[in-house]
Amino acid sequence: MAEVARRTATRRHYLMCRPTHFEVTYTINPWMDPRKPMDAGLALAQWERVRDLYLGFGHQVSFIDPVPGLPDMVFSANGATVVDGKVLIAKFRHQERAAEADAYRAWFEEHGHCGLRVPEYVNEGEGDFAPAGRRILAGAGFRSDPGAVAELRAFFGLPVTGLTLTDPRFYHLDTALFVLDDDLVAYYPAAFSEESQEELRRLYPDAVIATREDADAFGLNAVSDGLNVVVTETATHLIGELRERGFEVHGVDMSELLKAGGAVKCITQEIRRP
Ligand code: ARG
Repeated sequence: MAEVARRTATRRHYLMCRPTHFEVTYTINPWMDPRKPMDAGLALAQWERVRDLYLGFGHQVSFIDPVPGLPDMVFSANGATVVDGKVLIAKFRHQERAAEADAYRAWFEEHGHCGLRVPEYVNEGEGDFAPAGRRILAGAGFRSDPGAVAELRAFFGLPVTGLTLTDPRFYHLDTALFVLDDDLVAYYPAAFSEESQEELRRLYPDAVIATREDADAFGLNAVSDGLNVVVTETATHLIGELRERGFEVHGVDMSELLKAGGAVKCITQEIRRP
């Protein structure tokens, strides 16, 4: 029998936003239908479950106050990208979410950082940017501007690999790929252009490859600390693969946040200190 890799967790610091004002009132991605009923109490319970898992793993979790009238603010991954304590604030594609950027900027101004940049190009934070070890993967195609790649590289001083998303259902990089460890990712190939698929194969020959069903279940919108992976429980093929690779999988139900096109990763921004 093949030996199972030994995984180790590292302590993380996450930023989350309670879904107090969460609603589906507009449509800016193919998953959002304001006519569909959404259970706000259940959405809150699902969010709390993810928060409690992080606290149980020993991670630090900070909270930004939700702002009335910004129903998507619960998706804190989109607010900024933080690497080495440096903060690149988001600039949203859609007017409906534009004001979230100011709220995140104010939070980081109050909570300390090693440098903060208000961007020139549209970028939706960790929705499209995935720091992986000393590299940043940067998705574009639907939300973040391809021009953000050069801005990222210059601001963080790290190599950045641009990836092109081609399926509108997987409109943010974090709906199609997540980082398991510094040099390991999981992704759904068909969400990317041919060139980007080739680049991913070259960078991550051992990657975990997800199926269409896993991607539809938002299984790639997951969070890993190197050992524990929090993932939508319906991504059953992916969960099996992760267990085989030695990860401890924690399946969660995200039914209500999925109605806005988000799941585990979307509600989790990572604050990476130097
Ligand atoms: N309704 C939000 C939007 O379309 C969902 C954002 C999900 N966040 C994420 N990191 N993918 O912008």
